[in-house]
Amino acid sequence: MSGLRLTGLRKAFGPTEIITGVDLEIADGELVVFVGPSGCGKSTLLRLIAGLESVSAGEILIGERDVTRVDPARRGVAMVFQSYALFPHMTVRQNMGFGMRVNRVPKAEAAERLEKAAALLQLTELLDRKPAQLSGGQRQRVAIGRAIVRDPQVFLFDEPLSNLDAELRVQMRAELSALHARLGATMIYVTHDQVEAMTLADRIVVLRAGRVEQVGAPLHLYDDPDNLFVAGFLGSPRMNFLTAEVQASGRLRPEGTEVDLPSPIPNLRPGRRVVIGCRPENVELGDGPLEAKVRTVEQLGNSTFVHMDCANTTIAAELHQRWGTQGDATLRLTLPTAKTQLFDAETSLRIRG
Ligand SMILES: Nc1ncnc2c1ncn2[C@@H]1O[C@H](COP(=O)(O)OP(=O)(O)OP(=O)(O)O)[C@@H](O)[C@H]1O
Ligand SMILES: [Mg+2]
Repeated sequence: MSGLRLTGLRKAFGPTEIITGVDLEIADGELVVFVGPSGCGKSTLLRLIAGLESVSAGEILIGERDVTRVDPARRGVAMVFQSYALFPHMTVRQNMGFGMRVNRVPKAEAAERLEKAAALLQLTELLDRKPAQLSGGQRQRVAIGRAIVRDPQVFLFDEPLSNLDAELRVQMRAELSALHARLGATMIYVTHDQVEAMTLADRIVVLRAGRVEQVGAPLHLYDDPDNLFVAGFLGSPRMNFLTAEVQASGRLRPEGTEVDLPSPIPNLRPGRRVVIGCRPENVELGDGPLEAKVRTVEQLGNSTFVHMDCANTTIAAELHQRWGTQGDATLRLTLPTAKTQLFDAETSLRIRG
């Protein structure tokens, strides 16, 4: 096993640069999750690491070895795709063994690796079936098994669970987490499911338009985002944002209101435009300086999301209690100063005290 280092990585397709300079270090045995909106370059970055695309600039090191121009089969990586890409005419055993046959792994060793991986993934009873005779989750396990038998230094997963139904995803997520603990392998996992990212990752890499926005442990990114994009990307419903102007008094007046709120950060320049961020679970309903009009109420059983119009925008509150569905009600709310974050409205960057 070994870690991975990306330095100044760039990739252009024709005139369009898709990966616009990525520097990243991944430790040996770490599980790192790439998240970001559709089209931001997650799969492209993974394919560069796998060697399925050539880089336009930069370097890829696996362990101490520069693999930037090394053939995919010799990089010591194994990739698991969303589509599984199993051969339909082959049995589970043949599918899992295929790569080892191609690489001329001695028969006895190949058989041993295959038995071990099958046992680990609870596929032993299914080795003589063909993919069509398997459930979605079982097929996904075969695809993972095919990666495991190659004994790679780095596992690459591109949205491996997105074809599965909700319940199976939760189950496979737990299995992948256990697998990572068991193998102690370096893994890179791409998803746009933020729950997967939060639960699986040692560290999350948030990507946007081919660039790394922030890297950190899941709760670190959740609690301490560097900019509006990261703040808005993790969390559902997302963080509430109110644009406001700093008053001569140092207080903050949200656009569309006559209300001045205390600032979590002292000594901001009067006239400066800022964005107040507050997560739904921190919004307090009842008393408070801001007036809001209820738009929709979502009852999830264990919690309730109340969506309101407030100060030129919409605000979501998460309550851990049931809530009568009186639409159109007007109420008052507080964004507790200690639980709000500030961002610069022009640069989108976090303002730290
Ligand atoms: N071979 C290619 N030629 C030209 N453009 C490409 C090629 N492959 C990807 N792109 C473009 O690169 C961008 C990033 O694509 P990529 O597949 O990496 O996104 P992604 O983050 O994985 O998105 P998704 O979440 O939808 O899978 C997209 O705009 C895509 O159209
Ligand atoms: Mg993709």
